[in-house]
Amino acid sequence: MGSQENEQAGVTGRRMLLGAAVLGAGGAVLGLSGTARAAEARHGGGGGGLKSLPKPTIIGHRGASGYRPEHTLGSYQLALDMGADIVEAGDLVPTRDGHLVCRHEPEIGGTTDVADHPEFADRKKTKSLDGVATTGWFTEDFTLAELKTLRATERIPANRPHNTLYNGRWEIPTFEEVLRWQDEQTRRRGEQVWIYPELKHPTYFRKQGLALEERVAKVLHKYGKDRRNSPVILQSFEPTSIQRLNKLVDNPLVVLLSGATTRPWDFVETGDPRTVADLVKPAGLREIASYAQGIGPTLDLVIPKDAGGNLTTPTTLVNDAHRVGLILHPYTMRNENPFLPTNFRKGTDADAYGDVFGAYRTYFATGIDGVFTDNPDTGLLAREDFVNS
Ligand code: G3P
Ligand code: CA
Repeated sequence: MGSQENEQAGVTGRRMLLGAAVLGAGGAVLGLSGTARAAEARHGGGGGGLKSLPKPTIIGHRGASGYRPEHTLGSYQLALDMGADIVEAGDLVPTRDGHLVCRHEPEIGGTTDVADHPEFADRKKTKSLDGVATTGWFTEDFTLAELKTLRATERIPANRPHNTLYNGRWEIPTFEEVLRWQDEQTRRRGEQVWIYPELKHPTYFRKQGLALEERVAKVLHKYGKDRRNSPVILQSFEPTSIQRLNKLVDNPLVVLLSGATTRPWDFVETGDPRTVADLVKPAGLREIASYAQGIGPTLDLVIPKDAGGNLTTPTTLVNDAHRVGLILHPYTMRNENPFLPTNFRKGTDADAYGDVFGAYRTYFATGIDGVFTDNPDTGLLAREDFVNS
């Protein structure tokens, strides 16, 4: 039985609640007509804001990066066509001339054909990126015009050999191109398309005179997408970056959390001794809730693994976060064996899929509000199973 039928049949409890949520993209949950939804969308309102999103929300991680080179318009489009509720478009880094472009990292040797461009050979450098010596080509050393001569390539061909078919097909998108794509897709579909950009290495770039937050705020303002109900959720691993954004824009904000023993790089730079383990304690979560609407924890903070990589018992993080009003969008679900907990792998091939539906069942049962996934189609089926279970 589909989720709509569940609701019509008066199914009670979790099934009905989640079924209604699955119906709730954009204005649908508000009972708006198609025309009204389109009008709402045109005005960048995003309907009912965060609350209107289906749950568990399926977020296309770097687009549909399980099937296309990440952070390309091809990857974003496929995520949307598959039905992702939100598209992570994109991870944002700046160019030398101050434009925002979509790459997971400033270093682009692994996701573009820059190494095949002899004219850029002398741009190859070793830099300290958040304390890690990193060698390659960096977006901040290129103008936008120069970056536009490059083409995207598959980051992990050993796991995703089929994706190399698309190497060379797409450019590096700019943030402004993404915002225009969002508007165009919203118009075509008659319902609001959501995006979930992440500010990458804000402290690293601010020290180079390429501050991200003000640039992001300015572009969002230009497109009328800096409001509380705008269909743009902003995320960062640096809490002070989210605090800064909280003063610049009204968008929903999410603090990303890496492993428990790690320290956000802004904390390292400012001498704040706290680790992620401190931030996920009730006091840490209360503080985050004073300036953000959600957290994006690594899945291991929701269910830790044992020494063998098998899932153990869920932590109290979901309840603790919900208690202070924070939603949770953990990262990242991927279909291939190496990215799954050991007890959900099938065989040992690096490009083979494991029992990802089993893993989804286990994670969804914790009460998370959504999840980032490289395979939005799989995530949507897993949600359908969960809602109907
Ligand atoms: O943004 C959620 C997730 O994407 C964080 O991890 O490293 O893939 O950006 P990363
Ligand atoms: Ca990201």
